[in-house]
Amino acid sequence: AGGRRRLIAGNWKMNLDHFEALTLVQKLDWALRDAKVDLDAVEVAVLPPFTDIRSVQTLVQGDKLALSYGAQDLSAHDSGAYTGEVSGQFLRRLGCEYVLVGHSERREHHGEDDALVRSKILAAVRHELAPVLCVGEGLESRQSGDHVAVVLAQLDAALEGLGADDVPGLVLAYEPVWAIGTGETAGPEEAGEMATALRGRLETLLGAPAAQATRILYGGSVKAESVAEIVAVPDVDGALVGGASLDPAGFASLITAAH
Ligand code: G3P
Repeated sequence: AGGRRRLIAGNWKMNLDHFEALTLVQKLDWALRDAKVDLDAVEVAVLPPFTDIRSVQTLVQGDKLALSYGAQDLSAHDSGAYTGEVSGQFLRRLGCEYVLVGHSERREHHGEDDALVRSKILAAVRHELAPVLCVGEGLESRQSGDHVAVVLAQLDAALEGLGADDVPGLVLAYEPVWAIGTGETAGPEEAGEMATALRGRLETLLGAPAAQATRILYGGSVKAESVAEIVAVPDVDGALVGGASLDPAGFASLITAAH
């Protein structure tokens, strides 16, 4: 849509150890070759746990696979006395291109607020990682009808005071919390309403060229059967896939259906 290259990203969450990661990436590559997926038309990325990234790097770089990869989170800091944290610098050195920022599971279970999300976006950019900023409303806001306002407020807060030059490569992922891992999925109209609202607000915040260039993904129970109608929505440029990215053949069919 709009000349933007489609992106299908698999968020493995806390699944698959580093051996399983090797198997999945290898099988995914075979399945994509078999299906003759045009990887110029659709970019495929995997987002494994930190401990798998070195394995994925070895395979992708060693065998020159046409896959991108990244991480599910990063520290807001660059180095130093931050026990348990992982720096964007380390991720970049491992060849990561992307990093999720502000996934609803981080906001919910790890207390990430808007200010921290904003700092993590800046940390990603400092290390030449493309931040994939996740936003999405809970069930209550969807039911009360203020879902668009809630999500736009998340975007405003995450990008507060920033301009287009501050966030090169930014990707947005709209993931309604009620649709994550539940089998419930936003329909094309719901996803389209939000994606269009997000692009409009991006235009206000970052200007028209950046808003047009930014890829907006939908995430939340995306399956091979549902992905085509979601990515056909004009302002939706791809999908962020959780559960359905863990099986190589299944993920390959999803990608095939999306391209
Ligand atoms: O980041 C992807 C995600 O939260 C959606 O997960 O399992 O509903 O596809 P799932």
